[in-house]
Amino acid sequence: MAAPKMFDLNGNVAVVTGGNGGIGRGIALGLAEAGAAVAILARNEEKNRSVLAELEHLGVPAISLKLDVTQRAQLRPAMEEVERKLGPISILVNNAGISVLRSALKFRAEDWDRVVETNLNSCFFLSQIAVQSMMQHKRGKIINIASEYSIFGAQSGIAYAAAKGGLVQTTKTMAIEFAPHNIQINALIPGWIDTELTLPAQSGKIFEEIITRTPAGRFGKSEEMAGAAVFLASHASDFVTGSTIYVDGGYAIR
Ligand code: NAI
Repeated sequence: MAAPKMFDLNGNVAVVTGGNGGIGRGIALGLAEAGAAVAILARNEEKNRSVLAELEHLGVPAISLKLDVTQRAQLRPAMEEVERKLGPISILVNNAGISVLRSALKFRAEDWDRVVETNLNSCFFLSQIAVQSMMQHKRGKIINIASEYSIFGAQSGIAYAAAKGGLVQTTKTMAIEFAPHNIQINALIPGWIDTELTLPAQSGKIFEEIITRTPAGRFGKSEEMAGAAVFLASHASDFVTGSTIYVDGGYAIR
């Protein structure tokens, strides 16, 4: 079935970091279903191949590249390779993310650096590369995957909360600078989504607490992140920039 015109992503090229699993996979498949060509940039080649097959099955042009987003020197070559193979990038989804849970008192410098490099710095540097190309084509969409911990304090993920908080401010600040170039930059705030990242929270007391606090009464599925991502990637959101959209079963309102 064809997507309604305002959500139609035919003619777009989307990059999804960490797109070989979890929320990234859900979003990559959603963008492809709406017609976008999709490049997934992620580390595990076997998982890359598996999602690539799913994307190709949807009938869109697709590639996967092995990329560790913490390797700054590799970011520009990867983005250039996407453009050589698929065309100008019009959608960037900064999704790759990691979490380290430890008290602030015992948080190690190397963990701080790794978490902030993955969840914040790489998003900025990839966005900086993407907007250069988007400006030439006078359009673009950047979607940053933030977190409830962009807003609330975290129990034991100091670097994660700091990075995700910074990502929302990066979203707003870049949105202002690039709005005149018809580039919209927004963030999605997932609630608790069933992925590898949240496996430690899917049993025991913490699971009960999450379910009680989430009005929907359950974890979300990765595919349920796709609708808001397609909206933010499409013409339907051309007057939406610098915003954060919660996809969280109501977690943030309680
Ligand atoms: P996940 O662990 O299932 O997927 C994360 C993806 O990022 C994986 O493909 C992983 O390989 C990739 N990745 C991590 N470090 C990377 C690196 N250095 N280079 C390239 N790829 C890298 O986790 P999930 O849940 O799908 O998370 C996706 C995003 O959503 C993350 O930014 C996470 O912080 C965010 N998020 C997830 C929530 C959830 O409930 N699952 C809630 C709030 C935010």
